[in-house]
Amino acid sequence: MSEREHESAPPKWWHPAVVYQIYPLSFKDTKGNGRGDLKGIIDKLDYLNGTDRSLGVDAIWLNPIYPSPKKDHGYDVADYYAIDPELGDMETFDLLIQEANARNIKIIMDYVLNHTSSEHPWFQESRSSKNSPRSDWYIWLDPKPDGSAPNNWVSVFGGPAWTFDETRGQYYMHSFLSDQPDLNWRNPEVVEEMKNVLRFWMDRGVSGFRADAIEHLFKDSEFRDEPVNPHHDPNIGNPYNALIHTYSRNQRSEILRIINEIDEILSDGNQGFMISETWLCAEDLLEYHKASKGKACLPSNLNILGMPWQVDVIKNYIDRYDSILGNDHCPNYVFSNHDVSRIVDRLGKSKAKAVATLQLTLRGIPFIYYGAELGMGGAQIPPEEVQDPWEKQVPGLGINRDSARTPMQWDDGPYAGFSDVEPWLPLCDDYREVNVKKQLEDPDSVLNLYRSLIAIRRSSRALIKGRYQPLESGNENVLSYIREIEDEKLLVTINFSDNEAEVHIDIPGSEIILSTNKNRKLDKLTALDGLVLEGNEGCIFKLQ
Ligand code: GLC
Repeated sequence: MSEREHESAPPKWWHPAVVYQIYPLSFKDTKGNGRGDLKGIIDKLDYLNGTDRSLGVDAIWLNPIYPSPKKDHGYDVADYYAIDPELGDMETFDLLIQEANARNIKIIMDYVLNHTSSEHPWFQESRSSKNSPRSDWYIWLDPKPDGSAPNNWVSVFGGPAWTFDETRGQYYMHSFLSDQPDLNWRNPEVVEEMKNVLRFWMDRGVSGFRADAIEHLFKDSEFRDEPVNPHHDPNIGNPYNALIHTYSRNQRSEILRIINEIDEILSDGNQGFMISETWLCAEDLLEYHKASKGKACLPSNLNILGMPWQVDVIKNYIDRYDSILGNDHCPNYVFSNHDVSRIVDRLGKSKAKAVATLQLTLRGIPFIYYGAELGMGGAQIPPEEVQDPWEKQVPGLGINRDSARTPMQWDDGPYAGFSDVEPWLPLCDDYREVNVKKQLEDPDSVLNLYRSLIAIRRSSRALIKGRYQPLESGNENVLSYIREIEDEKLLVTINFSDNEAEVHIDIPGSEIILSTNKNRKLDKLTALDGLVLEGNEGCIFKLQ
């Protein structure tokens, strides 16, 4: 599709959008119980958009807010059509939609479609008898003749993927905890019900969904044993990687068929959007893009999370992904979320601004994980205070997701302005320095950089819709690229190292419109050949 044709297609609200991810339990407590709630999110909407001091985001993605026994912090849903009473109620949710709309903020819900809670009435009914109306809503198999599990599959969170149920005398399958039985997506009733969930929330004013764990949706119909991974070292590796998940995961054609069906619902005049959780390589991600004929469903690209902060690695990846997708598809690059260590813990505090510059000037939809805009780190969680079920089941693996889920740091008061009482997870030690109140006052803060980058992005068609064009910087530590559309051309250059770096780009003097270096003069013609960037500096130039 040419650029012009692309532009004449009906506008999708998410194309220019910057999305902010909120972990509701950790955003703002208004009930005084140390846990965040929906009213807290409403109270903080002005921070997100609508005033001249806001961050300026267009949408928020809420981690699950459904009733749940919270064995996996809400990813074990007990009712898809209600709000968790600990977080609020439907009236408060409607108010959230209304108040968000008033500030031009769209709401994206987590859509936990692969599994429910074992306490969900559907599962209770299914497990009650082989003859129950919902008998086939989950994945049940008979034991092997010796009574053992039907095959060798393991759960992502450690241990077997099968749990024996005395009442049915059968095993049920769970990709995650035994408290999270997998739904049977080969049952048309399940598919229809889960589509109704989407319709229900869209009717209430929700604009999009984040599809959880979608790679797990279908399993091999013969339930064959998975091959053993010959490269796995049981002494150091994640036990889940002892097998190659050929049969329990990424059964692509069926998943893509469902994506296509969901795409039809979302793009049917509704302007709905879905981003799926997909831990897949670039070529596989392209297939997910292609399955969405109406272009309402995108896969998330989580690959950068596992990469070292090195120009050659990241540049190669971005160049390749961008060229694989071409202009037809809208990419995205995830730099943090609730399942991985925070950016500054992975890469170091000094990298916060460089990452922001990269993320907000790349093509596609940026997702900002709450607190990333402050350069917030994670807290050390002592073993006896661990809440993450994954860490509890596979201790010592280092996947302690709690540390990325600590309370938002609003100010330097007691409990960082998050709550009046001790929060459900400890605060990060640095909250007296790293908090919203302090950073709003400091023109050189990470928060004010995010605000400037988002403002520039909003006003730049090149950043929203323009092509990405790789560029050589003449320095192995500097990543540079051009974003370009008809009459607008921006050049981004980012020093990945802590030391000064000299750039050699053969482009005549250009105007700098943003730099993370507070001493650099803006709006001034600056030569790109011989430009010396300070350590970790990112700059945006406007080219003639
Ligand atoms: C996804 C979620 C993660 C959750 C898991 C099981 O990976 O992001 O937080 O634990 O699914 O639902």
